Amino acid sequence: MCMVNALKRVTASGFRSLNKVDVVFGPFSVFVGPNGSGKSNLLQVLSFVRDTARFDTGQAIALRGGFQHILRQDGRSRKVSLTIEAVVSDHASAKASDRYTLELEETKPGDIDRTEVLLYKRVSGQGRRQKIQAKGSEVSIGEGPQRAGTLDQFLSLASDDVSALGTMARLNEERLGSGPRDFFDFLSTVRYLDPIVEAARRPARMSNAALHDDASNLASALRALHEDHPDGFDALQRDLAQCLPGFEALEFGVIGGAATSIVVQLREKGVMSPIDLSDASFGTVRLLALLTALHDPLPPRLTIIEEVDHGLHPYALDVLVERMREASERTQIIAGSHSPTLVNQLHPGEIIICDRDPETGASIIPAYDRDRLKILLDKTDLKAGELWFSGALNGVPK
Ligand SMILES: Nc1ncnc2c1ncn2[C@@H]1O[C@H](COP(=O)(O)OP(=O)(O)O)[C@@H](O)[C@H]1O
Ligand SMILES: [Mg+2]
Repeated sequence: MCMVNALKRVTASGFRSLNKVDVVFGPFSVFVGPNGSGKSNLLQVLSFVRDTARFDTGQAIALRGGFQHILRQDGRSRKVSLTIEAVVSDHASAKASDRYTLELEETKPGDIDRTEVLLYKRVSGQGRRQKIQAKGSEVSIGEGPQRAGTLDQFLSLASDDVSALGTMARLNEERLGSGPRDFFDFLSTVRYLDPIVEAARRPARMSNAALHDDASNLASALRALHEDHPDGFDALQRDLAQCLPGFEALEFGVIGGAATSIVVQLREKGVMSPIDLSDASFGTVRLLALLTALHDPLPPRLTIIEEVDHGLHPYALDVLVERMREASERTQIIAGSHSPTLVNQLHPGEIIICDRDPETGASIIPAYDRDRLKILLDKTDLKAGELWFSGALNGVPK
C-alpha cells in the first residue's frame, strides 16, 4: 500500500464552473490562475465528496446551501458527476487504483438521485476489481462493470440520502474486504485548510485535537505540537524567524477556570511584553496556521490549502513552498494560489494552470500541458511565475 501521494486523479462535470475537467496529481500540486477560474471549485470537489462520506449526501448539499449551489448553472446541466481515483486500499496499485464515482441528478425539483460506484481490488494479484454500486437505497456488488447486468443485490440503505461509502465502511468487512473502509478513511480525513484568521486569534479550549480546517483551535494545536513533538515545534519557530523580522519565540499562556484555554503569544525583539495572537498581524496569524498544519507529524493523507499566498510577504512564500514540498513526503499537498512569486518557486510538475472559457464560463483545468511547460521553462531564462504572468501559459485575464 502506498502511504503518500494517494490521490491520482479527479474528474468533474456539472459541478459549479467545472464542465468536464480531468486533473492528475503528484505529491505536491498548486492550482494557479486568475480569480474565478475554478481553483476553489476544484478543491471543493474534494471537500464536498469528503463531506458526503463524513455526514451524508443530503447534509453535504445542505451545508453548501442547496443543490443549485453545486450544480453548474448553465441552463443545461442536470447532473453532477465526480470521480476520485486514488491508491489507498490494500491491494490497489498505480495500475489498478481505487475509483470512486459520485453522481447526483435532480430528477424533479428538490428530488436528487444519488449513484455511487466504488471499484477496488478485493484480493491481490491479477483479476478484476470489485464493484459496489449504490443507486438510491439499493446496493449491489459485482465483479466488474462488464457484469453489471448480473449484480447480486444484497443490501438496502436506510434512505437514498445516506452515503453508501460511509455505510459500507461500517458494515460488511467480511464480505467486502477492507477496501471500502480504506477508501472511506482516506476521503473522510481530508484536511481542507482555509483559516479564518479572526477565529484563529482567539484563545482555544485545551485539547489534543488536530488543527481544525478553519484553524479556530490554533492555540491548542500549537500547544500540542510544542508538548508532543518539540522538534517540529522548533522547526516551526525557525520558519517564523525567517519570515517575521524580530521574531524570537512563541510562548503560551493559560486562562484558568473550569475549562482551561490556551493563548499564544509572540516574543519579539525590542517589545517588552509578549504580543497576544489577537494583536498579531493578519499575515502572521495565517502563516502560523499554515505552518502548524505543515509541521503536523501525523497529518491526514491529503492536505488541501486554499489561497496559500493570502496575506503573505514574498519571503514567507519562499519558506512556505519549501515547507509544503517537505511536508508532501508525509501528506499529499494540493494548494491554490494567485501569486507569481510563489509560482516562481515551483517546479513544472507542481503547477496546474487554471483558466476559464470567456464565452461559456467553463473552467479549463489544466490550461497548459505539464510536459510542454517543462520544455518551455528549459528554453527560457524566465521563472515559471514570470512566464505565467506574461500570458505565455494561458491562465491570465485576456
Ligand atoms: N453553480 C455554478 N454554476 C456555474 N458557475 C459557477 C457556479 N458556482 C460558481 N460558479 C463560477 O465559479 C466562479 C468561482 O470559481 P472559484 O473556483 O471560486 O474561483 P477561483 O479560481 O478564484 O478560486 C464564479 O465566478 C462563478 O463564475
Ligand atoms: Mg478561490
